[in-house]
Amino acid sequence: MQPRSARITGWGMYAPEGVLTNEDLARLVDTSDEWIFTRTGIRERRVAAPHETAATMGAIAAKRAIATAGLEADDIDMILLATCTPDYWLPSTAAFVKEAIGNRRAAAMDVSAACSGFVYGFATADAMVRSGMYRHVLVIGSELLTRFLDFTDRSTCILFGDGAGAVVLSASDEPGGGMLGAELTTDPEGAYFIWMPSGGSASPPSAQTVSRGEHYIRMEGRETYRYATKTLASTAVTAIERAGLTQDDIALFVPHQANLRIIEFVARSMGIDMGRVYVNVERYGNTSAASVPIALAEAVDSGRVQIGDNIVFVAFGAGFTSGAAVVEWTADPANGVRARAVVPTASVHLPADWRAAAPVPPELADILARRNGSALAEPEVPGSSQRGAPEPAEPVRAASGSVPPKVTA
Ligand code: UT7
Repeated sequence: MQPRSARITGWGMYAPEGVLTNEDLARLVDTSDEWIFTRTGIRERRVAAPHETAATMGAIAAKRAIATAGLEADDIDMILLATCTPDYWLPSTAAFVKEAIGNRRAAAMDVSAACSGFVYGFATADAMVRSGMYRHVLVIGSELLTRFLDFTDRSTCILFGDGAGAVVLSASDEPGGGMLGAELTTDPEGAYFIWMPSGGSASPPSAQTVSRGEHYIRMEGRETYRYATKTLASTAVTAIERAGLTQDDIALFVPHQANLRIIEFVARSMGIDMGRVYVNVERYGNTSAASVPIALAEAVDSGRVQIGDNIVFVAFGAGFTSGAAVVEWTADPANGVRARAVVPTASVHLPADWRAAAPVPPELADILARRNGSALAEPEVPGSSQRGAPEPAEPVRAASGSVPPKVTA
């Protein structure tokens, strides 16, 4: 039976403990806190610890969203995970999240639309729930960008950080609420303005591609900036029109957190006061598909969103993709406290014979280890005293509440 609406019932986020400041980066490349802050609004970003992956971070955000919704993991019918930094090319990162949250029945797949991925996933989830296909869909944005950055390239390595955010979209028999309008666009003219040259079928990974640094994210900053300022506004305006609303009806804009200058420019061009825009880029940098759901969770938990508010998610990214969704908020913001009971532990199993290389870029490992040993501490794997990526003697099965590798945050 078709529900009368699809509403956000849960929200949650996770940011890893390790902090990388602008001063830290100024020791690696020719840059300064002043340059980075003035041009981007970023002061610091988070860095995942060696035992963390896009799946483990996404799973913690997901568990918090499920708790906020007052649901159990097994209530989830479908997991959509937006990422451009998956654990592996194969299988999906969503499959590992399903395991890590202890869900036994959901379908799971990844969404690839770069920084717009969460908005694309959200619009897809909305269609799935409204059609009656699923009752509860988990939409996650999770990114571990610091492992795909060239820490000799000052034009990219200063911008990105790690983290995850999630929402639960649920069928409701009440009319109204949920997504009122959306706009998704893709402009392949910009396909090579943000890209990772090698690793895919067009240029399979080899010693040569690695030696040329083609496994790192490359970006034409100025072109991307121009595109972003133009498209963010037009995408948001179209979604608001589709919702039958005007800018004045929007209580809060939750934009992709790529650059404060871009956000301010777009707000000005749309005639929106910055008081109606949620900004946290100063603390997390650009977390790609995770940035909108992280900002949403923080906005709701800090009292910036009330029942009946119309809010707008708007993002842009590689592709070039862009997406906006207008949402009427219906959940009690106070439910966010339920997420506090979720301790940040999550793990996925590894094959018994797998021996991963140390995943954290050595430049970052040194900086973070010096400042805060615990942020990059390995999880304790029972029966193993070795350092490096977790190497359990037996595949480690994750189950919410009892996870062998102890991950602290
Ligand atoms: O999620 C979507 C992903 N991407 C984005 O949203 C990024 C969009 N683009 C941007 O945010 C901006 O273009 C950047 C922040 C990346 C760069 O800012 P900009 O004001 O566009 O700088 P620019 O690229 O025009 O470079 C200006 C100067 C150059 O020096 P010259 O050629 O004028 O001598 C750069 O080499 O700044 C130099 N520069 C730096 N200087 C110090 C570039 N990066 C740095 C740096 N520190 N980190």
